[in-house]
Amino acid sequence: MSVLILGIESSCDDTSAAVIEDGRLLSNVIGNQQVHREYGGVVPELASRAHQANIIPVVDKALREASKTPGDIQAVAFTKGPGLLGSLLVGASFAKGFALAQKIPLIEVNHLQGHILSHFIKTDKTDLYPEFPFLCLLVSGGHTQLVVVRNYLDMEIIGKTIDDAAGEAFDKCAKLMGLDYPGGPIVDKLARDGDPNAFQFAKPLPKGLDFSFSGLKTSFLYFLRDNLRQDENFVENRKTDLCASLQRTIVDILVQKLIRASKLMGIKNIALAGGVAANSALREAVVAVGKTRGWTVFLPEPRFTTDNAAMIAIVGYYKFLEGDFAGMDAVPMARLPF
Ligand code: KG4
Ligand code: ZN
Repeated sequence: MSVLILGIESSCDDTSAAVIEDGRLLSNVIGNQQVHREYGGVVPELASRAHQANIIPVVDKALREASKTPGDIQAVAFTKGPGLLGSLLVGASFAKGFALAQKIPLIEVNHLQGHILSHFIKTDKTDLYPEFPFLCLLVSGGHTQLVVVRNYLDMEIIGKTIDDAAGEAFDKCAKLMGLDYPGGPIVDKLARDGDPNAFQFAKPLPKGLDFSFSGLKTSFLYFLRDNLRQDENFVENRKTDLCASLQRTIVDILVQKLIRASKLMGIKNIALAGGVAANSALREAVVAVGKTRGWTVFLPEPRFTTDNAAMIAIVGYYKFLEGDFAGMDAVPMARLPF
């Protein structure tokens, strides 16, 4: 008998539901929230309310697209954390109600493990899956980590950011240039027409495998301020060069740490995950470096890089196989290590 898992993701500003059958994707519906646009960032209370409005239609759509009914589902997996507590509560409460009504097990999922295991979602496009152990650079709006993945549910963080996340660096610098939120994909697009060596910004490289991005943000801010004093149209005139140079700096930092970690751990299976793994310059740089270093590089499908429920469902699938279920007293947690 095949295993059908319903996954629910609600950790930040995307309400998502997915159905997978034996690890194969049947549907993955994402309800983006538009209410945050005018604020230039996610407003937690508005996010919770939008999740509440979205969750039932999103789950309903995911089931319909998968041609399944609630009675077909064998377990429901939800994001336990990390994330915004109010947002997580909506997904957790819905999952509990669904599990109770269908008399099926409830599975709690760490959002970060979800990003990493997104590599194992089976689709018509995937035929190559990372071999264990692999080293994963997990880069999102909230996290920047180097993770050794020994098995589906056996992971160890060996490096992390001591301040801002890589996605945050993209988003905050984009905001300084007056770009919309989230800025990462916009910078990526504008950078294609710019010179990545036009400007130099601070490139903090703390010792060991940790990352730091707040100095880059400050250096970017001062650079803009100094230049705007002389030319009030500086940002407008040099936007593509600014984006390309900023992107190169962030990618350089990430790639240098990835090389260091690979050498230190002796692991050449390299994977990217998280929203920033959609970045075209990062993907190209890791592939290029991988060629010279004999790495086997695994890039996630772009649609699985940003938050989605398919990645929660795939963790749910591996936990289901282990019989790792949660009780009805399961609570979401804003901060949650592996
Ligand atoms: O994984 P994700 O959807 O949410 C978190 O768990 O944080 O990541 C969102 C982050 C945002 O900071 C967004 O700007 C960034 O991923 N991002 C990108 C790109 N696409 C999304 N950053 C750079 N280039 C992109 N193409
Ligand atoms: Zn995420």
